[in-house]
Amino acid sequence: MAKTFDIPKLTGISEKNIEEHLKLYKGYVNNTNLIFNKISELKSDPEKNAFVLGELQRRFGFEFDGMRNHEYYFSALSVGKKEINKNGELYKKIEKEWGTYENFLAHFKFVATTRGIGWTILYFDKMTDKLIISWIDEHHLGQLTGLSPILCLDMWEHAFVADYQPSGKKQYIEDFFTNLNWENIENNLY
Ligand SMILES: [Fe+2]
Repeated sequence: MAKTFDIPKLTGISEKNIEEHLKLYKGYVNNTNLIFNKISELKSDPEKNAFVLGELQRRFGFEFDGMRNHEYYFSALSVGKKEINKNGELYKKIEKEWGTYENFLAHFKFVATTRGIGWTILYFDKMTDKLIISWIDEHHLGQLTGLSPILCLDMWEHAFVADYQPSGKKQYIEDFFTNLNWENIENNLY
């Protein structure tokens, strides 16, 4: 089931862009369900359908992560912007990892300018109690096993080109941070 998001008027990112982007998100939800159903249907004759089943299984991570990454992205832009709570757990973990909040922002924004289509994700690794920022190609290539996504920034061109042109990538990243609801983001820690 596609989730619904209460996204207010944003700085820089147009309502039209969000509307179109939500349609793309629904496509990932539909395709995730489609693959699930196709696999259970084709499993009735696994030998005959072995090749198709293998390819569907290979494709599953693309569709599933495409769905889930977008849910973190839209959630972070929902309800209205809220500053990060400087007494909260997330802020403390950021300071522990990068020294200052400003260093964290600079590093996240730097990773976001990685060439290609994909995502920049802030993760929490509960095994080591550490935050990690990583680049993910497409939706799934490079996802880190066992870590929880905290903040996902969509760096596919469909997320910003209509409003910013390809050359406006850095402004899109700046505006993304202007629009964030840090309360929703911090809730991803728990
Ligand atoms: Fe997207």
